[in-house]
Amino acid sequence: MSYPYQIKSLEAYQEAWKKSIDAPADFWSEIANHFVWKKPWQNILDWEFKTPAIKWFEGAQLNITENCIDRHLKDKANQPAIIWEPNNPNDAHRLITYADLYELVNQFAHVLQNNGIKKGDRVCIYMGMIPELAVAVLACARIGAIHSVIFGGFSAQSIADRLQDAQAEFVITCDGAFRGPKDIPLKNVIDDALVTCPFVKRVIVYMHTKTPVSMLKGRDVWWQEEVEKIEDKHFPAACMEAEDPLFILYTSGSTGKPKGVVHSCAGYMVYTNYTFVNVFQYQPEEIFFCTADIGWITGHSYILYGPLSAGATSLMFEGIPTFPDAGRFWDIIDKYKVNILYTAPTAIRSLMAFGLGPLQNKDLGSLRVIGTVGEPINEEAWHWYDEHIGKKNCPIVDTWWQTETGGVMISNLAGITPAKPSFATLPMPGVEPLLVDEKGNEIKENNVTGNLCIRSAWPSTIRTTYGDHERCRTNYFATYDNLYFTGDGAYRDENGFYRITGRVDDVLNVSGHRIGTAEVENAINMHAGVIESAVVGYPHDVKGQGIYAYVIYNGLHGEEELIRKDIAATVTRVIGPIAKPDKIQLVSGLPKTRSGKIMRRILRKIAEGELENLGDTSTLLDSAVVDEIKNGKI
Ligand code: PRX
Repeated sequence: MSYPYQIKSLEAYQEAWKKSIDAPADFWSEIANHFVWKKPWQNILDWEFKTPAIKWFEGAQLNITENCIDRHLKDKANQPAIIWEPNNPNDAHRLITYADLYELVNQFAHVLQNNGIKKGDRVCIYMGMIPELAVAVLACARIGAIHSVIFGGFSAQSIADRLQDAQAEFVITCDGAFRGPKDIPLKNVIDDALVTCPFVKRVIVYMHTKTPVSMLKGRDVWWQEEVEKIEDKHFPAACMEAEDPLFILYTSGSTGKPKGVVHSCAGYMVYTNYTFVNVFQYQPEEIFFCTADIGWITGHSYILYGPLSAGATSLMFEGIPTFPDAGRFWDIIDKYKVNILYTAPTAIRSLMAFGLGPLQNKDLGSLRVIGTVGEPINEEAWHWYDEHIGKKNCPIVDTWWQTETGGVMISNLAGITPAKPSFATLPMPGVEPLLVDEKGNEIKENNVTGNLCIRSAWPSTIRTTYGDHERCRTNYFATYDNLYFTGDGAYRDENGFYRITGRVDDVLNVSGHRIGTAEVENAINMHAGVIESAVVGYPHDVKGQGIYAYVIYNGLHGEEELIRKDIAATVTRVIGPIAKPDKIQLVSGLPKTRSGKIMRRILRKIAEGELENLGDTSTLLDSAVVDEIKNGKI
């Protein structure tokens, strides 16, 4: 399989971008012609951002798994689709060819059907990073069920919230997951979550860690036993409409509980494939290693759907970069001769801290392209990555995008368009970014910062937030008329290159994980002794941002240190360890305006250590509280 739509020069990029904006229907139909459709489309695109209503490839029918698996069987049956590296380097790795993947997915599609799952049903998947997670996701897509993968680090409460929101009646999980030195008892966590989700009819459990679990009669079944019952190795792929939902993925916003971002079949497929092939300049037979977890959008789009739809070999890693030591990524690259590495700035920074020792005797010569995603990459980390991993010989792609955008939106194309440290640079074909000021006026000049918006729909635009379309509208399409608002700020340089400066809303980016301050506050407030809290981010050397919580605590008894630990434990219980505050300061009051609004700007400055220049505090109800907070800063 070659990629006739792979851009090969800067001029070709400029031409493609212009055509994609001037004549999007022609542009995307040429690309879409390279996919397998059960029925062709009648209308390439039809969209408006007011309500919003976004439709791509209307009238077409397809199944994404035929594009990700079946069509590769002719030429690539014996090529690995997935290489799986286990958590423990001494355990056996697995090579899953396209022929194997076909068989596993088809068998498991039968299992899903036998267990009562049908097209349109929501299936929650809570598993570790093992090949069966990929199989579960693809088998859902094969039968047309809507998968909703939940990251293995979320708590029972977070899972229950998501199950309830999606009204998911089916769960696929494992007994446990290995992560570094830990064995995480996933099935136990699911059992706790299901106490408040009696509507869940079936839990399919894959035995992986051999952790003891209790199986509930009539509800829980073992994956392996169910597969044994299947003789038919083929399952006819469900016929999906272009706009049928493919999956729901929950992500944090600035208010309320996480929302279920919905992506639909056709547009998402075409766009993840197109961006995969172009951003990384993937060449047939190369080994692509994306270190993300499939619980996040990066794993969906660039471990599974993008690479597999392109017939690539995707490396999936169960463990963490520092286990058994900080050389693990480099061992993996050396072992499998990885050609493309795609990771997050937080991983780069944490590995930088170990110095060059872990790189000794590791052959990284196979690397051709290296990429980053998830948060702004600081120049120091960019140069370290360039020098010590890419050996100044691999283009770095800094890819900016979001759960809601489905695929990469702004990035250089490896070796084709110029890179600039800490800049995502130029938009992908099909993407029309712009900067606006607070009032929504477009800022047309260069060398400016503003709020980053997108002017027109791209194929994998968020379609809705599950069960609440109005929430989708107000979150993304109502801030500025007829624009998609990203929630990010950006700087545009004299060449029109974009540099993402970070969120301008109350969303934090902690180690590349998106966390809403409101969510953390709600969790803290569940602690019996807490009266009120306010959470802000502060710069953190490794995590990018750390979580700083100001807490008004009533239960005066007890030592401060214990209280802090207890509050942190509450957050871990309610959301999961990823949301645990790094710093908790107990305070007697919070700076509020006369109308009762917390002045986060002040709290942010204090958390950042900027104690002198707090700006205008004249609207504060009680300015003494600011001095108290400043004096007690940790
Ligand atoms: O703030 C931006 C940041 O991550 C946010 C999206 O988070 P999420 O939906 O979890 O998706 C992460 C993986 C695509 C964005 O709003 N972000 C993502 N990529 C970059 C980035 N910030 C700067 N540079 C990037 N390359």
